[in-house]
Amino acid sequence: MDLGLHGRAYIVTGASRGLGRATAQALVDDGANVIVSGRTAQHVERAATELGKGAVGVVADNADPQTPQLLIDRARQEFGRLDGLLVSVGGPPSGAFSQIDDRQWRDSFETLFLGAVRLVRAATPALEPGAAIALVLSSSVRSPLANLTLSNAFRPGLAMLVKQLADELGPGGVRVMALVPGRILTERTAALDAGDPDARRRSEAAIPLRRLGEPAEFGRVAAFVLSPAASYLTGSVVTVDGGVIRAL
Ligand SMILES: NC(=O)c1ccc[n+]([C@@H]2O[C@H](COP(=O)([O-])OP(=O)(O)OC[C@H]3O[C@@H](n4cnc5c(N)ncnc54)[C@H](OP(=O)(O)O)[C@@H]3O)[C@@H](O)[C@H]2O)c1
Repeated sequence: MDLGLHGRAYIVTGASRGLGRATAQALVDDGANVIVSGRTAQHVERAATELGKGAVGVVADNADPQTPQLLIDRARQEFGRLDGLLVSVGGPPSGAFSQIDDRQWRDSFETLFLGAVRLVRAATPALEPGAAIALVLSSSVRSPLANLTLSNAFRPGLAMLVKQLADELGPGGVRVMALVPGRILTERTAALDAGDPDARRRSEAAIPLRRLGEPAEFGRVAAFVLSPAASYLTGSVVTVDGGVIRAL
């Protein structure tokens, strides 16, 4: 199937590693151009170099109010168009409710929530007809994750915002989706499991496919969702989870 990505241009944030990086790879593999961002210059440069022609790295923090315009201007300058964005970002710190202080609530809101809001708001007027936006969220949109208070509090709101944005942007031909990874093998997953040698075995035992996902398995779904091939998909919460989420 031709995804129709050839010559299109996307912004992928949080793309120096993990799910963003895997999505950028899938987009580039199918002929799209990508702006890839992250906070660490060395990692952004390496990702852009490895992705090769069609990828441009920009060092930018999603929590910074200047970031959306920086990324959009760069996309236009490099590629002359913008066909969509994937908003991924580092996950929030873990901790029980009683352990999370005001600074962590504020920082996570700025990064996870307001960062996504600002990017979508700034990008919308710059998008080509038929464009698509996807937010990388978490299974906490469907049921709470143990010890991930900030994710449980913020992600469901973003999932409902996706539904609202689908209503508002649909008439203009722009699609909006949430992508929900279950447990994909990235540095984030490794960090959450650090210090618990049995964590991976327990995770795998709970997943119907009995393994964690590979980043590329997430990236291919994300690239499809963003592509013109998914032209009648909007307002959807798309899970990539090996079957682990029990809720419909
Ligand atoms: N992997 C999973 O199974 C899974 C499951 C559920 C939810 N998620 C969520 O999906 C998102 C991505 O997860 P991941 O596994 O890909 O994480 P990851 O391996 O930690 O990668 C995160 C990427 O985002 C960048 N980043 C972090 N903070 C940023 C910021 N403020 N602005 C711009 N870029 C930033 C990182 O680079 P720098 O640090 O250099 O900026 C890195 O490139 C996270 O929000 C995570 O909570 C992941």
